[in-house]
Parts: sequence; C-alpha cells; structure tokens
Amino acid sequence: RSLLRDELPDAEVLVVSNREPYIHNMEDGRVVLQRPASGLVTALEPIMRACGGTWIAHGSGSADTVMVDERDHLPVPPDSPNYTLRRVWLTDEEQDGYYYGLANEGMWPLCHIAFVRPVFRASDWEQYVAVNRKFAAAVVAEAQTPNPVVLVQDYHFALLPQMVREQLPEATIITFWHIPWPNPEMFSICPWKEEILTGLLGSSILGFHTQFHCLNFLESVDRFLACHIDREHSVVRGTEGTTLVRPYPISIEWPPAALATQPPVNQCREDVLKHYGLPAHVRLAVGVERFDYTKGISDRFRAVQSLLEHHPDWIGSFTLLQVAAPTRGRLAAYQITQEEAETLAREINERFGRDGWHPIVLIARHHEPEDVLTLFRAADLCMVSSLHDGMNLVAKEFVAARDDEDGVLVLSTFAGASRELLEALIVNPYDIRAMAEALHSGLSMPPEQRRERMKLMRDLVSEHNIHYWAGRMLLDAARMRKRRAIERQIV
Ligand code: G6P
Repeated sequence: RSLLRDELPDAEVLVVSNREPYIHNMEDGRVVLQRPASGLVTALEPIMRACGGTWIAHGSGSADTVMVDERDHLPVPPDSPNYTLRRVWLTDEEQDGYYYGLANEGMWPLCHIAFVRPVFRASDWEQYVAVNRKFAAAVVAEAQTPNPVVLVQDYHFALLPQMVREQLPEATIITFWHIPWPNPEMFSICPWKEEILTGLLGSSILGFHTQFHCLNFLESVDRFLACHIDREHSVVRGTEGTTLVRPYPISIEWPPAALATQPPVNQCREDVLKHYGLPAHVRLAVGVERFDYTKGISDRFRAVQSLLEHHPDWIGSFTLLQVAAPTRGRLAAYQITQEEAETLAREINERFGRDGWHPIVLIARHHEPEDVLTLFRAADLCMVSSLHDGMNLVAKEFVAARDDEDGVLVLSTFAGASRELLEALIVNPYDIRAMAEALHSGLSMPPEQRRERMKLMRDLVSEHNIHYWAGRMLLDAARMRKRRAIERQIV
C-alpha cells in the first residue's frame, strides 16, 4: 500500500482481466461465491485489496443471468469491501469467439509449446476485436481522471492497450502477459500478428515473467513491425509512443491470507489422509491445477507408474493425490486431456492397486484456496510437471504453505518458476524416467536437506512476493510519469 501511495499518490487504479476474482454461482436457489483457479486472480487480488480501485472483468457466474444490469458494480471482497468489481457482460456469441475461440484455441496454444495446434478463425477474431473494444469502453467509462494507471491482464486483451491509448492518451497502461511469448517463427503463424503487436504497443509498460519471453517479444516486433527497438533500455519506440518491455516474475501474497486459519501441519496430514481414505503410513505427493494440456498431468501419472516399476518398494506406500479443476470444457483439446488422464490413472491403479490402496487419487473438481493450502501442508512432496508455463504459482503457493519448512518440490524446467526456485528438484516432464527418479530422490531425501532447500525457497518467495512484483512495475510507471511531467515543464 505504501509503495503505491508514495510513488503514485493520486493515481486511480483500474484492472482489466477476463476472469473475475469472485464468481457468483447459483446453487440450490442461493448465490454461492467461488474464487477461480487462476494464477492471475491469486496474484492480483491481494494487490487490489491493498490499494483499492476498480477491477473490470467478465461477469461469468451462473447467478449473473439474474443479476445483469442492476449488479454491474459490486463492492468486494464481500465480507470487507475495499475495491469495486465492475462486470462486463458478454453474449454467448462473444464468449465463444473471443474466449473459447481466439484466446483459448488460438493464442493459448500459440504461446505454449505443448504441441496442440492453434486454430485461427476469422469469426473468432471479429469477436475478439469487438470484446476488446467493449472492455476498452468500460475502462474509459470507469476512469474518473485523464491519467489513470490501467493494469491490463493477459492474452485476452492484446488489442485493448492501443484502444485505451487512443481515448486516454495520458493513461499509464501497464500490460502483463501471464503466459509465455513464443519465438518469431511460431508467432508468425498468427494471421493477425501485426494487429496484436501494435495493440500491445499501446502499453506504457509490457511485462512478461522472464527475460526470455521479453526477448522473444522484441524479436517478433523486430521481424513484423517497423519500429525502433532500443535493446539497451528494452524500449520499443513506435509512431504512437514508447513501450518499456521488462521481466516482472509474478508471485503470491506472503504469507497467504488463508494460512492464518490453517491447522498445524500434522493435523492437515491426518485430515487429508482420512478424508481421502488413505492409509496412515503413505508418503503423499500432491498435484494441483486446472485440467489443462499444458500442465503435464498424464506425464506425471506416467512418472508414478515408472516409479512403481523401478522402485517397487513404493508399491503400497506412496500415493499421488491429484486435484484438477475442469476448465474450458467446451473445447475438444480439454475434453481429450481429461479423458486421457482419467483413463491412465484408472489403468495404473488397476495394475498396482491392492488392499484398498491406490497409487493415484484423481479428483476432477474445483477446490477453494483454503482446501488447496491444507493439501499442500499435508504433503511430503508437490509435483509441478508443466510442459510449458509462464510462471506457475502452484510451486510458490506450496512453498508458502510450508511454514514448518518441510516438503519437497519437484518442478518442471519449462515453468518460469524454475528460474527462481533453484532448490526444487528440477525435471524435464518429457523424460518420464528422470521424473520417476526425481520422485524417488524427493521421497528419500533426508529431513535436513529438505529443510535447507525449503528454507532457501521460502526466503526467495517471501522477499519476491506479489507486492514486490506489483511494486517494481508501479515504480517503473511512477518514474515514467515523473519524467513525462518534467519533459512538459521543459516544453
Ligand atoms: C492462465 C492464464 C490466466 C487465467 C488462468 C485461468 O493462468 O494466464 O489468465 O486466468 O489461466 O484460465 P481461465 O480460462 O479459467 O480464466
């Protein structure tokens, strides 16, 4: 809070994202709140709670059909409001083309190397343009000052920075791209590459998780637009203005608010084992994600299979508890991912399971953040085997959950988090045998070594927490605003 107030004392803050931080669903005639399984929401919500402002997002809950119109603006969080949620309503056609189509069948596979072919339809693009325009209009309508700080989130809104810039030329637009940015060859298959790059360059600051993704972006600009790139300062100068392109590795709240109400670690373990009917002696690994093909869930199951084949001592004494929230279920690639993983888990369980014990427990449903924390605290080991991931906040949440300084993290080298959490057991998820060996080493690791590694990772995440992430971007923004004010005095 202080940083925002010190550096940008009068700034009005507006966030734009597709996903809303609180989803209102109707269950048994009552409105029930759900907090989505989204890295973006996990990261940004504490910032908004701390600094206030307006968060503009797509109203997506099942209760919203009855809430349209009269409930555009909601004070949130519901129990102690300190910012406003402004919902934008989309038609089914808009949602299909913009969210399922262009964003998730086009941009998502385009940016992730997961070997799912991106699909680009002209009709999806039309909806994507229209929805970006609709959200840009909402930003302009909500802005009470000519120079707000607008925090634009992710691949749903590549065009919005430019659209807002046209109407609010003085705004400080900070866009954060939460997923990887591909190399120029890969990016070149997008039929609207120039439009997407130009749209993003409406931003004052464009952030990625890693330097590697910044360089891929700059290379793409170099290849497809006629702009001047100042590589020394990582700045792109276009006809409309300049954009600073920088890495800001995203993080989480430290300590996570939900940790305050967690029982001690032993209790969590007891509760979880009991809840899932697992024997008291099992060593427990957990995996937590959306059921997405980028997360390498089947590869992780294959690693469990390989562990049991090569280290049969673990048969009967090790279980992977995998919770996976179904996501984007209308898309074939997601249905196939889930079906494949469920079939594989069944086969492995049939092959190795005995006397009421199973190596894999797969729960395909959404879990609220408190329940996820309990799982992390109950586990001996957490497995993150993404095939490609911008950051992966699950890795950081696991570390934050372990205030007992125990627990082993097995982490994919293709997740941005592996650039920071160096004391994890870093694995290549395409190398099943090596992943099995990492599982074996993690489960066999002496307590002292576990503690040393966990302590170092906790030091890093506690320091580079979510306020540090936002703080560095806001500091860069504040410098930019001051510089512009000085330039004006000279003129
Ligand atoms: C990724 C994206 C986020 C998104 C999340 C959940 O982490 O980077 O922007 O919030 O997936 O996806 P969903 O489609 O459910 O919002």
